[in-house]
Amino acid sequence: MTGRVAIFDTTLRDGEQSPGFSMTPEEKLEMARQLARLGVDVIEAGFPISSPGEFEAARRVAREVSGPTICVLARTSPQDIERAWEAVQPAERARIHTFIATSPIHMARKLRMSPEAVLMSATDAVRLARRLAPEVEFSAEDATRSELEFLCRVFEAAINAGATVINIPDTVGYAQPEEYGDLVRALMTRVPGMDRVTISVHCHNDLGLATATTLAGVRAGARQVEGTINGIGERAGNVALEEVIMAIRTRPDLYGLTTGVDSTRIFATSRLLCALTGIDVQPNKAVVGANAFAHEAGIHQHGVLADRRTYEIMTPESIGLPTNRLVLGKHSGRHALQAALEGAGFRLTREELDRAYQRFKDVCDRKKTVLPEEVVALVEEEIAAPPRTWELRRFAVTTGSGMLPSASVTLTTGGIETERSRTGDGPVNALFEAINAIVALSPALVDYTVRAVAGGAEAVGEAVVRIRLDHDLAVGRASSTDILEASGRAYVAAINKLLARRGVPVAAGGTPA
Ligand code: KIV
Ligand code: ZN
Repeated sequence: MTGRVAIFDTTLRDGEQSPGFSMTPEEKLEMARQLARLGVDVIEAGFPISSPGEFEAARRVAREVSGPTICVLARTSPQDIERAWEAVQPAERARIHTFIATSPIHMARKLRMSPEAVLMSATDAVRLARRLAPEVEFSAEDATRSELEFLCRVFEAAINAGATVINIPDTVGYAQPEEYGDLVRALMTRVPGMDRVTISVHCHNDLGLATATTLAGVRAGARQVEGTINGIGERAGNVALEEVIMAIRTRPDLYGLTTGVDSTRIFATSRLLCALTGIDVQPNKAVVGANAFAHEAGIHQHGVLADRRTYEIMTPESIGLPTNRLVLGKHSGRHALQAALEGAGFRLTREELDRAYQRFKDVCDRKKTVLPEEVVALVEEEIAAPPRTWELRRFAVTTGSGMLPSASVTLTTGGIETERSRTGDGPVNALFEAINAIVALSPALVDYTVRAVAGGAEAVGEAVVRIRLDHDLAVGRASSTDILEASGRAYVAAINKLLARRGVPVAAGGTPA
């Protein structure tokens, strides 16, 4: 096999639509810029008809992100397709992706349409989309549970109507790898015109098989892979793109294929998504998990010390993992910090670097040395930072056995300090209540986690807070050697996100004490 596989990233559409992963238009734009730096070929920026926010985010990505093709999703109705085109039209290279379900269960129970009506709807949609956009992708939703004869007819009609990409989704993660490879091969031989279009694979992970199924599709001849960073997505997720990219890169003997991705930016891209959504990957996640390159067992450590290749099939450097154990401390300058960050695949603006350096210096005042993973945590706080309507200036917490925890907090906004004290069920609750009293909001705390970024009693702790006000969910993240400070700052960051979304002007006061 030879050739190049196009990487189609749907983190901002299939990934973002799953519970807990929603992002604001600004966050989507930031993620899209990072995906462009990573070198993906296509960014699916959203489903414009689904909401005004979704439309706005997709349009901003189309306007402001150059490099990859920008794609948006539409059902087969003319309104969907016209709205999709409105959003994506400004892109350097624009694609409309239209889809309709072709499996008996979806047609009968969800769409309540006959196969003939589905066929006609798909054809009309592709024809309209192609009158508008230079690239049109057609997906037969639930393709793997569709009847092969009918699937062939729908794909043939879509190609004749002008589709440039034909996608074969395993929508519910039902296909087994071999079976999926056979399906791709059967479609390639049976559908006239299939050799003139790009064949795309789109696999979900319900049975934990998405990577295997995707790669079976690639071996069968597909030349576009659709997936998400960290495998986020509906239910058990979409295929994790980093796994497919590294499989193709690690086994040239088997695949003989390349991608346009700069794999050294995988780690930074994965971390950015965690920072934006507040959801980490599990430690044993392939490629990007915290333990993916850790060797704990003595016999493994012995082997790795003798020759890394004994237990490492890919190097940490190849995904941009910070391996430079160069420890930073209070004598390290901005350049050393910048070098450590660049080694980890982060490209910061001057302003972001200034803020990260300030945070780094604060940590150095309390801790002799700062490890590479701790530096990354500090930076993640800065790159995902919302506008700072409120800032945590000071706080004091009193707690102990048999006493009611209390917190006194001072926040600033517009140069004005406001202080409030509150009690709570625990010290963190008291801290959050005092912040609520200042900002005059009472969001529900949906989730709160604290973790040590590296080992050791002196380690930097990272707090992630998710809050909800009405239907609006916001995530804040902060790190410090003091976990209460990290918690307070993360809570304030989440409040600032909520306020920014509501367009609330900077307040000057607060509520009465
Ligand atoms: O999984 C799926 O079928 C989809 C389609 C919209 C391509 O996401
Ligand atoms: Zn999907």
